[in-house]
Amino acid sequence: MNIELTETIKKLEKYNQSEIINLMKNVYTNEELDKITKQIDGLDMEQVMDLYNNATKIPDVSKNKIEHIGYTNLSTLDEEKFKEFKTAGEDIIKANKYAVITMAGGQGTRLGHKGPKGTFKINTINGEKYLFQVIIESLMKANEKYGVTIPWYVMTSDDNNNQTIDSLESHNYFGYDKDKVKFFKQGKVPMVKVDGNIVVDENKLIKEASDGNGSIYKSLKRAGILEQMKNDGIEWIFVGGVDNILLRIVDPILVGLTSTEGNLISSKSVVKNNPQEKVGVFCKLNGVPKVIEYTELPTEMAEDIDENGQLKFGEVNILSHLFNIKALEKLADVKLPYHTAFKKSNYLDKDGKLVEVTEPNAYKFESYIFDGFSFFDNMSILRVKREEEFAPIKNASGSDSPETAINLYNEYVKKYNK
Ligand code: UTP
Repeated sequence: MNIELTETIKKLEKYNQSEIINLMKNVYTNEELDKITKQIDGLDMEQVMDLYNNATKIPDVSKNKIEHIGYTNLSTLDEEKFKEFKTAGEDIIKANKYAVITMAGGQGTRLGHKGPKGTFKINTINGEKYLFQVIIESLMKANEKYGVTIPWYVMTSDDNNNQTIDSLESHNYFGYDKDKVKFFKQGKVPMVKVDGNIVVDENKLIKEASDGNGSIYKSLKRAGILEQMKNDGIEWIFVGGVDNILLRIVDPILVGLTSTEGNLISSKSVVKNNPQEKVGVFCKLNGVPKVIEYTELPTEMAEDIDENGQLKFGEVNILSHLFNIKALEKLADVKLPYHTAFKKSNYLDKDGKLVEVTEPNAYKFESYIFDGFSFFDNMSILRVKREEEFAPIKNASGSDSPETAINLYNEYVKKYNK
């Protein structure tokens, strides 16, 4: 065994990786060894095993102080304030200080579309459209209104990057200025089986899965995009998902509200339908902003009503966020917490035999974009109307499906002549 290989095996022994060690010692060809050694050398094994060791630890939330977070209601905003925010926001957009990021690195497992979610096609009252096209059309409308060309950044993952670029190329970016579109890839973390062995997949390599949309912060920096934005004079960056077909990606009110309130981050919210709705809501956790999942919010709090008869924890996160560049710079260097999902993953056993599983057997680790909010004392929240800004496509059928989203979209178009 050469020195390099001995070093890699030593690294693996430290973390009890008996399955990979056996594969490397007794099963792999020299070429295969070469490939996996390179991969292992690039991994932060300490971090991966740390995630594994904490995978089943449930955080003790009993000592947390959960409080209501203040918000601005767009519907009841007085005319003067509305104008003030609008002017402030428009000035920023017109001065070419605004950019948009679409997070499109997800796997879209629930929808089950073959290919990146942005290449999913819907049939609306305005004709057939791909999800990427819906986003580009909103950008083009804003460009025309404000006399600018807003830079558009798309976060992809290793799994869908090439397909995403090929698809947009083949549609000539739906008429968008190609020079204003940039792609960057999110990070990955190895999956780990319940027994602590890292998953080796049928390609004889370690299975690395996308590390969640919280990857955006460090990935932007790694790709040199933060630097580029700064050089280009970009100050405010909107970040949204790929699958909400009513997402308002250029809204001067949100920009104006945030800059006027002196905050570096903000989000839009919609009102929670009922205390049991399975959504994440904004709150203050131990004094800082946070999105708390429905599973973590005690029932009595979920049902708590304020003096106006509204749910105290009723501001639903719709993945519609705004960041000042300074916030993104700070978040590029913080360590976000990881959340663990339990998934099915076929793997090679220690003898190189492919084991096909029918039950979840491995941990996948993900960080979430909203965990970045807790690194700030405050954020602005703008409550908007659900029927105007929230039509997500998550599931193949039932709630949050193409059918429900298209209905909402069509209703909106009819109501506002859009
Ligand atoms: P979701 O959490 O809805 O995940 O992502 P998803 O991948 O689209 O769908 P499922 O859960 O597999 O069915 C919300 C947004 O965050 C992006 C998605 O592309 C979507 O726009 N995302 C999610 C990433 O960019 N990277 C990730 O690792 C996860």
